[in-house]
Amino acid sequence: MKRADGILSDSGMFTRSEARKAIAEGRVFANGKKITSPSEKTDENAVITVDGKEINTEKYIYLMMNKPAGYVCENGGERSVLSLVPKEFYRKGLFTVGRLDKDTEGLLLITNDGDFAHLVVSPKKNIEKLYFAELEREVMTADTAAFANGFELKNGEKFAPAILEKGEGKTALVTVSEGKFHEVKRLFLLTGNAVLYLKRLKIGGLLLDTSLSAGESRALTTEEKDLIFSE
Ligand code: URA
Repeated sequence: MKRADGILSDSGMFTRSEARKAIAEGRVFANGKKITSPSEKTDENAVITVDGKEINTEKYIYLMMNKPAGYVCENGGERSVLSLVPKEFYRKGLFTVGRLDKDTEGLLLITNDGDFAHLVVSPKKNIEKLYFAELEREVMTADTAAFANGFELKNGEKFAPAILEKGEGKTALVTVSEGKFHEVKRLFLLTGNAVLYLKRLKIGGLLLDTSLSAGESRALTTEEKDLIFSE
């Protein structure tokens, strides 16, 4: 049991004062019963409605975003991808699962569940990520072989083997399972090529929902969450 104003503000849809105002105005119901005081102890699993609309009060939220270019995966600032999350999904403590560069687009997971995020990015899990890249020059057979071998730099830094498939013209699909900083761009640089455009299409078995336009996000279904770990 928790204070009714706390449940509403934790949902991310209301500030404490908005929650109190809604309660004072008689607009808030728990399991069909009107809440009469902000301090009223309320079951966190109750169906809470405000103005007849159900509020999602689940503790954890799991979102997929089609990240647009020009936004960063850091918290804070209007250029943060988190500023694009619709109010209905907003929670305290949201963060991105791993990072995409500012100019990279595509599939980005956002959550407030640290354990889940840890599983997705854990090197032990080796979850594959698929990217589409537009390049400075066409991919050659030698590049595919080099990606498949992995790289070891003079300073000892290693890049695990990655799958490079040539696409039409100067495009390619790349599958990596490490989560190194600028990994895909750096792999191409190592073969004397350069990435001009990058978009993430898939994490594990979860594909980007192409009906999401750039900047849009939606909650993952339980099945989709499981798909991340399925391949
Ligand atoms: N690799 C990169 O170089 N950039 C990204 O944003 C993701 C993977």
